Amino acid sequence: MSGANAVKEDRLWQRHADMAKLGGTAKGGVNRQALSAEDAAARNLLASWAKARGFEIFTDAIGNLFVQRPGSDAKAAPVMSGSHMDSQPTGGRFDGMYGVLAAFEALEALEDARIRTRRPVMAVAWTNEEGSRFQPGAMGSAVFARPERLGDALAAKDWDGVVLKDALAATLKAAPMPMRSGAPGFPVASYVEAHIEQGPRLENEKKTIGVVTAIQGSRRYIVTVEGEEAHAGTTPRAARKDAFAAAARIAAAMYEATTDADDTLRFTIGRVDVAPGSPNTVPGKAVFTIDMRHPSNDVLDEHEKKLEGIVASRAAPCPARIERITNVGSTDFDLTVIDLVRAKANALNLSNMDMPSGAGHDAMHIARLCPAGMIFVPCERGVSHNEAENASPADLAAGARVLVEVLEELANR
Ligand code: GLV
Ligand code: MN
Ligand code: MN
Repeated sequence: MSGANAVKEDRLWQRHADMAKLGGTAKGGVNRQALSAEDAAARNLLASWAKARGFEIFTDAIGNLFVQRPGSDAKAAPVMSGSHMDSQPTGGRFDGMYGVLAAFEALEALEDARIRTRRPVMAVAWTNEEGSRFQPGAMGSAVFARPERLGDALAAKDWDGVVLKDALAATLKAAPMPMRSGAPGFPVASYVEAHIEQGPRLENEKKTIGVVTAIQGSRRYIVTVEGEEAHAGTTPRAARKDAFAAAARIAAAMYEATTDADDTLRFTIGRVDVAPGSPNTVPGKAVFTIDMRHPSNDVLDEHEKKLEGIVASRAAPCPARIERITNVGSTDFDLTVIDLVRAKANALNLSNMDMPSGAGHDAMHIARLCPAGMIFVPCERGVSHNEAENASPADLAAGARVLVEVLEELANR
């Protein structure tokens, strides 16, 4: 039996349903933010499935979770596949989780088909991909690729001031796993990540598989505007230093400056905090986040300068600053992996198209370590980062079939 034939659509679908209970929301989505109790529960569930299949499981100093099926050459670097199990606060059941479960399904299919590979094949769940609780996102894979970032990652604080190191310790206490000693990171032969597309192109073009060629560059910023608390009922306009009013002026100018003619630049203000948060006090502080993306790093540079200019010119009378907290350049995936994904999709008679990714993924960091690529499957109406996110069991299984064939071939190279 081939690996692809051993993929079980029902098993993969049921695993999604089981995981969706952990942090499940009333609207059918999930709230399973990084290093929360729900994240720990997902780790325990994955570990229980791994143990039942006799796969080795271990974690590292940033909490990445690895499940390994041995190869015949114990010294060979593994072929790796995976994604993340954390979600947005109002997230869907498939973003990230599909990549982890497709990788696990690939391990099970290889096992069921009794396929021996030369290299070990590993499934991985990277810590904190979403970056909605702790900044920056794609943290576990970034630290794996550049272990010197571990200290900064452990010191990250969530919006309530909880330090990541403490949240990680609590998670590993609730979900204890064997710890790989030393700094994160080890040699990987190649990496392939499966993911829902999170956009509408595959569905519109009636294709089952997206052969992912690249990921656009992304940057995040925090803008902080300082004002002065004052009485809302008595303070005349001239005497006000209203931090939110200044933030709103800055934001309005930024939306205008980032509205490009070809609708390629992506600009989002996704979080605004206003302090002290009282209806009848003029805000003394406003803080907001910016997420900005484009395939060209030059275009991002150019717009970054515009954002800085706007903060400098529109904030008066409030002091304001803009701080860049992430800068991930655009990623081009490895041509041999891209060709292999396309060839395996064709061999399985699955309609496919080449496409870049608008969303960020852990693969963008691992691509700096080894040949890497991605496989997309359609999601309903392209909806993602939304509790209504949905995908069909058949498409999810199709992606897993391509994945297992690609991994098997890479694991014998
Ligand atoms: C990942 O969730 C992203 O924001 O691209
Ligand atoms: Mn994701
Ligand atoms: Mn996401």
